[in-house]
Amino acid sequence: MTPADNLWDILQGIGQAFAFSESAMQRMVRDFHAEMRRGLRGESGSLKMLPAFIDCPAGNEQGEFIGLDLGGTHFRVLFVRLEGQGRALVRHAARYTIPPALTSGAGVELFDFIARSIKQFLAEHDLEQKKRIALGFTFSFPIEQTSSYSGRLIKWTKGFSATGVAGRDVAGLLADGLRRQGIENMEIAALVNDTVGTLLAGAYADPKCDMGVIFGTGTNCCYRESTPAIVRNPGLQKTAGRMIVNIEWGNFNCLPVNDYDRLLDRDSDNPGKQRMEKMVSGMYLGELARLVIMDAFAKAGIVCAGNGLAKGGLTTRDMADLETDPTPNLTGVEALLAKAGCGRTTPEQRQCVREICRHVSQRAARIGAAAISAVATWMDPELEQQHVIGIDGTLYARYPGFQGLIGQTLKTLHGDKCRMLTPAPVQDGSGTGAAIAAAVALI
Ligand code: GLC
Repeated sequence: MTPADNLWDILQGIGQAFAFSESAMQRMVRDFHAEMRRGLRGESGSLKMLPAFIDCPAGNEQGEFIGLDLGGTHFRVLFVRLEGQGRALVRHAARYTIPPALTSGAGVELFDFIARSIKQFLAEHDLEQKKRIALGFTFSFPIEQTSSYSGRLIKWTKGFSATGVAGRDVAGLLADGLRRQGIENMEIAALVNDTVGTLLAGAYADPKCDMGVIFGTGTNCCYRESTPAIVRNPGLQKTAGRMIVNIEWGNFNCLPVNDYDRLLDRDSDNPGKQRMEKMVSGMYLGELARLVIMDAFAKAGIVCAGNGLAKGGLTTRDMADLETDPTPNLTGVEALLAKAGCGRTTPEQRQCVREICRHVSQRAARIGAAAISAVATWMDPELEQQHVIGIDGTLYARYPGFQGLIGQTLKTLHGDKCRMLTPAPVQDGSGTGAAIAAAVALI
């Protein structure tokens, strides 16, 4: 057997390890519903089902608001004008790169950085003199809300670990930071998760939007629930109407895992947590593919110069480039592997690497689509109504083939009925959504 043949055999095994069949999807949907039910009742399980204390906008909200967005490597500030009739105009926007040390340092320094950035923004856009500006704060981590404008961080995800924040009211920490910077004209009107921001932005433009999904660095979803069904919060049960619930689906843990998933989880900074996120989101897919590539090469006896691809050496963005290398001999793949220390590779080896990336990203899209299907059928078991699903995040917007595969998988699961589910990209749901949240919360 030539080494290349051997590699193709190995690839077959990898294909099986990353397969996510229709019956696996159907099982996932059933398990997902069971976990949603547990979470809503306040029983222990992998889905937190966190009420957002806010419902969708009517679309006619108007006014000028500040939106803040914290959830990854950048902090953003936006000044948004809501014009009613579903039109939101971003008048000014700025992005501040968070120094990496702040994501793992003292929380108070992180909030000082945020407040300083806001101060700079207000000065640059002549907003300091305004008497009062309402702001919405998109904070893309699990928060146990106590109202539409306050809530405690349950735990950090996506690699953040700043101290003194978990268990505290993040709106309070922001208010303290603003005070330390002498900012007095800001009113924190709303605190939302990024999925909630995305749903609000989607629903502002289209009332049929009832789910907000993120496929980005992390992954998560929120949807509209009937308020009395939120049994976990006894106070809410007596309230009629609807409320948005943040599922925190990244932590869903009833999926079939393979050896690579186990390895990635074991060596992560939060073993046992965010199991679905580790199979679906941008923060992890590159690392997962790297583990598979290194294992395939080792099994095929391919020796990389140096240490080969080191941990963190393959990003999800690299994976996207590997998958779409247009050259016949995959010279782009060759360059990337050479840069990472794999020395010279044959065209077969490079094709094999590309196939591995496809297996990993395709499973991610299938799991994502099955999760969307689970939430939609939770709200509407027979899919009798139209559901627009607002989706944001770099993986969805930019990973080649991801959007198409989500649509295709929904068709596999629902046949013709998939016409009732319309995935709709929402641009900058976290930013404009924060401003819309402020408007809704003030009504
Ligand atoms: C992580 C966070 C979640 C967020 C998601 C997408 O899963 O825990 O709150 O919505 O990333 O950013």
